[in-house]
Amino acid sequence: MAPGDAPLPPADPATTAGGDGGPATPDDPTPDDPTPDAAFRLPRTVEPVTYRLTLAPDLEAATFTGTAEIEVEVRQDTDRIVVNAADLDISGVELACGGRRLAGTVALDDEAERATFTFGAAGGAAVGATGEGAVGTAGGAAGGAPADAGPIPAGPATLRLSFTGVLNDKLRGFYRSTFTDQAGATRMIATTQFESTDARRAFPCWDEPDRKAVFEVTLVVDDGLAAFSNSAVMEESADPDAPGRRVVRFGPTMKMSTYLVAFVVGPLEATDPVDVDGVPVRVVHAPGKGHLAPYALEVAAHSLRFFTDYFGIRYPADKLDLVAIPDFAFGAMENLGCVTFRETALLVDPASAARTELERVADVVAHEIAHMWFGDLVTMKWWEGIWLNEAFATFMEVLCVDAFRPAWRRWVSFGLEREAALAVDGLAATRPVEYPVGSPEEADGMFDVLTYQKGGSVLRMLEQYLGADTFRDGVRRYLRAHSYGNTVTADLWQALEDASGEPVRAVMDSWILQGGHPLVALDGGSLAQQPFAYTPKRAGATSAIGDRWEVPVLVRSLDGPSDRLLLQDDPVPLPASVAGATDGSAAGAGGGSAPVVVNAGGWGVYRVGYGPDGLTALAGRLADLDPLERFNLFADTWALVLAGQGDLDGFLALAGRLSDREDPSTWTVVSGALGLLDRVATDAERPAVAAATRALLGAAAVDLGWEPRPGEGERVPTLRSLLVAALGTVGADQDVRAEAAGRFDRARDGGPAIDPDIESAVLQAVTAQVRDGDYESILARYRQPANPQEELRYLSALATFPDVDRCVATFDLAVTEVRTQNAPYLLTSLLANRVGGPAVWERVKEQWTVLLDRFPVNSHSRMLDGARTLCGDPALADDVTRFLTDHPLRSGQRSVEQMLERLAVNVAFAGRHRGGLGRSLAAVSGP
Ligand code: BES
Ligand code: ZN
Repeated sequence: MAPGDAPLPPADPATTAGGDGGPATPDDPTPDDPTPDAAFRLPRTVEPVTYRLTLAPDLEAATFTGTAEIEVEVRQDTDRIVVNAADLDISGVELACGGRRLAGTVALDDEAERATFTFGAAGGAAVGATGEGAVGTAGGAAGGAPADAGPIPAGPATLRLSFTGVLNDKLRGFYRSTFTDQAGATRMIATTQFESTDARRAFPCWDEPDRKAVFEVTLVVDDGLAAFSNSAVMEESADPDAPGRRVVRFGPTMKMSTYLVAFVVGPLEATDPVDVDGVPVRVVHAPGKGHLAPYALEVAAHSLRFFTDYFGIRYPADKLDLVAIPDFAFGAMENLGCVTFRETALLVDPASAARTELERVADVVAHEIAHMWFGDLVTMKWWEGIWLNEAFATFMEVLCVDAFRPAWRRWVSFGLEREAALAVDGLAATRPVEYPVGSPEEADGMFDVLTYQKGGSVLRMLEQYLGADTFRDGVRRYLRAHSYGNTVTADLWQALEDASGEPVRAVMDSWILQGGHPLVALDGGSLAQQPFAYTPKRAGATSAIGDRWEVPVLVRSLDGPSDRLLLQDDPVPLPASVAGATDGSAAGAGGGSAPVVVNAGGWGVYRVGYGPDGLTALAGRLADLDPLERFNLFADTWALVLAGQGDLDGFLALAGRLSDREDPSTWTVVSGALGLLDRVATDAERPAVAAATRALLGAAAVDLGWEPRPGEGERVPTLRSLLVAALGTVGADQDVRAEAAGRFDRARDGGPAIDPDIESAVLQAVTAQVRDGDYESILARYRQPANPQEELRYLSALATFPDVDRCVATFDLAVTEVRTQNAPYLLTSLLANRVGGPAVWERVKEQWTVLLDRFPVNSHSRMLDGARTLCGDPALADDVTRFLTDHPLRSGQRSVEQMLERLAVNVAFAGRHRGGLGRSLAAVSGP
């Protein structure tokens, strides 16, 4: 379907209060609600219909004032209205209903983040003591318990509120961001980040995803400041009350959730709009950065067309602004029509960017635009359904970017993301993709690798199983049926069942509602599944890993046909067509038959165990595997080694057969394994790790050289970079280090710039040498970067010196001058620094409360992730475990527990191999 032909979604948003997902009836307070939890759900007595919001931020004072006029539907007579509010001062409260105006009192419950407005008898006077009893009953009225009958009759009403708040520096709610302008002055921006539950910090609201409403936003701003929100500007005029200010009125949004509302005010510039089949698209940025916008505009235009076509539904807003915010907690946020980004995820100069950096921008832009339909138009009912949003956007992002630049082979590199998910999902501390959520902290804790990467991988598996067209048809049905509404996971399965006639729900429940994934073993010509676990299951220990899955398996003979089967409880023989194919080279495992690839094509979310003979057979035919199959073979083999179920020598022998000169992903497994060996080696063994690294990677590096070659594949620069980094660090390769140092020195002295594709790798090969003066010049470059990507490359390099003093210096920067959006990631690299990590860990403990207070909540667990590599010294690992168990995070503690289990897996690995590496490694490097 051509984009222009795509229909509008079925309902007219601004006029449809009900429709799908509309107000519930009073006796059915939370229909279809999987986990009604009164403590975290507002009563359903009153439903919002339209919010008229006026916000006036004072950037210099870092405060804001606001008014809200909220049209509501009262479902049954009551005397109170309960909404969410946090960190707000609410003053005026008035309700117009049934031709009368009632004054109200307000009672705040800070813990529950609620405000209860109580209204007395008619006549306009507030009746009753100041909210007496209101706080106590706020929770009690939830979940459908009938509220006291009172003076507010069922029917339409208008709630009027005024309030004030602070523009905080915590990167959530309504917050302030700063940047230095071209004249060197510090400038302020006021901006918002509401997901999951922080709209309540900007205006009182029903801050739950299925309380959808229309938003009409007005921003009152100083002349000279630009203002952006979800819709196009309808009207702009001088503020009659305050000279030097403007009133900017935006059009009504579609009916949508509070977490998607956005306001941005600041000395920002917008590019000229690009017309994409009638949708004006702009990039909004700090002055002087307009030249970094065209690439994102190109991706956005592609993505809008791609999704309009794929979903068969027109883009649901009236314009699309992509806004670069200098301080931003996440990568980006899918506010309808007003997507916000951190600068590195949006602003990029293709001429001076690495291919991976361009891919990152394409990924993020595509991901957020996918959400305009999947998430914004159709939204999960509650936060346990967040996986629907994020896994689907992840899946669509890869599909879209794969169409944008097919040569990037995005589905192959997606293998790395699935691997990141399986690395967590094989832990006892994993969780089901869909998981009950109550509190805001629990909601925030859901944005992890299991939601995004495992969820996205499972959807890819399903898409390949059903067929791409059938899958897309099911998605179209789903979006059309639930536009402007809210859904649970089963709604998606239903639509896919309708489209395919397959038992989608039964299969998918085994992947979504339980943790873990299987190991599919090929043994004696048949396939069987068992749960995969990095840690052997101990009696009495709890594990979230399930027992069995409905496993869609595609198998193929290397020389012949492929076949599919659904593996359930019992072992299944290989299909005869596959098992019987003969092997031309006569090197097959089964004496004459060709090696069999289980998980053919590579889209299954499971590990495969071939056993030593099967592995040897495949190792001899690596070049005949697809890149993703080859990657999976390496990743699965390494995972079994890490789990103590496979032998290291076998993996190293496999690595020795890798001759790929194109695809970086498989090499990533090899260099990752060598990195861990470097961590667990004794000082005496470390040179052997280095020698093995050179033996395994050196030839590829020589073949690729340092300079890009005309016509080389799109993924070669990334492979070159990986080889330089590994050889320059763990490999201690003197040639690579010398060449890197030469390039670094020439660039520093005004000579040719370092090729952006290998700049990060060159920096690592330089910092590995700990030369005098390099720390200072890298720091200086970080402080005066030419573009956002360069800033990040140089900042990251500051964490890679194998030197305690320099690591400590970087730690000090991380808690002072580094933006709080970046510092947690710098800390995680510092913790992962083999030499400096232990000293940094001491400081993390000392400054624990400072760090938690300073950094955005969502990054707390990410800040600690690097600690999983502190496995060289069991006493240190114990200390890390004890401290983080005694100091649990309010949000993201599950991720911390997963990190600790990975640390334990690494410690166990070290226990098996430390001191005994010499023989294994000698086999790789030769005598
Ligand atoms: N909705 C998220 C942003 C978000 C994450 C809000 C966590 C609240 C909590 C957004 O769509 C997103 O997924 N952003 C990613 C980037 C994306 C390309 C994976 C991010 O910010 O990392
Ligand atoms: Zn997302």
